[in-house]
Amino acid sequence: MLRGVMVGLGNVAIEGHLPAWKDRKDVVIVGGVDSSKDRAALFKKNMPEAQTFGTLDEAILSLKPDFVDIATPPHTHFSIIKTALRAGLHVLCEKPLVLKKSEIEELALDREDSGKVLMTVHNWKYAPICREISSRLESGVIGKPKRLEWYVLRTGPSVTTDKENWRLNPEMSGGGILIDHGWHAFYLLLEWLKADPLKVKASLEKRQYEDLSVEDTAKVTVDFHMDGPASAEVFLTWASRVRKNSGLIEGSKGRILMEDDRLIIEKTGQSPETVMFDKALSAGSHHPDWFNFIIDEFLSEISDASKSGNNFYTSQACFKLIEKSKESSEKNAAPLVY
Ligand SMILES: NC(=O)c1ccc[n+]([C@@H]2O[C@H](COP(=O)([O-])OP(=O)(O)OC[C@H]3O[C@@H](n4cnc5c(N)ncnc54)[C@H](O)[C@@H]3O)[C@@H](O)[C@H]2O)c1
Repeated sequence: MLRGVMVGLGNVAIEGHLPAWKDRKDVVIVGGVDSSKDRAALFKKNMPEAQTFGTLDEAILSLKPDFVDIATPPHTHFSIIKTALRAGLHVLCEKPLVLKKSEIEELALDREDSGKVLMTVHNWKYAPICREISSRLESGVIGKPKRLEWYVLRTGPSVTTDKENWRLNPEMSGGGILIDHGWHAFYLLLEWLKADPLKVKASLEKRQYEDLSVEDTAKVTVDFHMDGPASAEVFLTWASRVRKNSGLIEGSKGRILMEDDRLIIEKTGQSPETVMFDKALSAGSHHPDWFNFIIDEFLSEISDASKSGNNFYTSQACFKLIEKSKESSEKNAAPLVY
């Protein structure tokens, strides 16, 4: 049975990852690492049979695990991933995988050299409503998808375990809502449109939190390589009065509307079908039920060499979309060709 160590025992690790790991019979978490003694103690309370450490190096030396699950703030991901790959461990890491172009390039080489899996937590793919969208698109109900709109409205940034919120420090987070929610939006649109980006245009704004060092609102348009026009519009904000997710996917034979807790499937010439979900997509932040599918995907990349790398290639594409969006915004929303 594969043995894992969790690094970063903050909100998403304890509320989202740990319950899912604990439910599994095919893998076991044997250790937890956090620079905060309080967080390590909370982990130990939840997982008395596991050991706790202040650094990953100590955990590797003592436990010789097979994999790590990293949920520390973004600016720490790169060096922790390097340590893990160098020690021959498979790596599962929260989004955003890394913050710099040089880092993702170096990790591409390290991943090849190590022969280990390096996977980012792309958990929104596994929200029940998103799985239903994927399955409807695969069934071809609306034909070939050509246009996507994706809206994420939040009333402010999420809190962190530390009083000083790393999400608001660009050195630690890599930016504001573009990096916090844009990474999720980008792997979803790549998954659903199944095409390569051609052009990106973006604007990052401070609409409400003007004194923040990061943007609270991001608008991104991506044009795709396809036979005919294909594009995605992404709108993300922390400056809304409501918390809501919604979207639209238009295809050659109809469209799918997503309204947080419902899908409306409109097939040309037929009456619309509504599918309701127990929870709104915007409800909660940690989702152990979605993370359970992430564990399946991680184990499947480990055991099946033909799947290894699939997730990393998507991570590279998300990274590039984030980079191009920032660059376009710096150039006053100039359209940037890939
Ligand atoms: N996929 C999702 O839906 C989702 C949701 C929330 C957060 N996240 C991501 O998860 C990561 C963590 O977010 P969070 O909200 O849990 O943050 P958090 O602040 O609640 O937790 C971070 C933890 O990491 C610890 N830490 C910091 N530096 C460390 C280091 N060098 N070594 C060991 N421990 C260290 C902190 O003490 C803290 O316990 C971020 O990358 C974030 O973007 C993803």
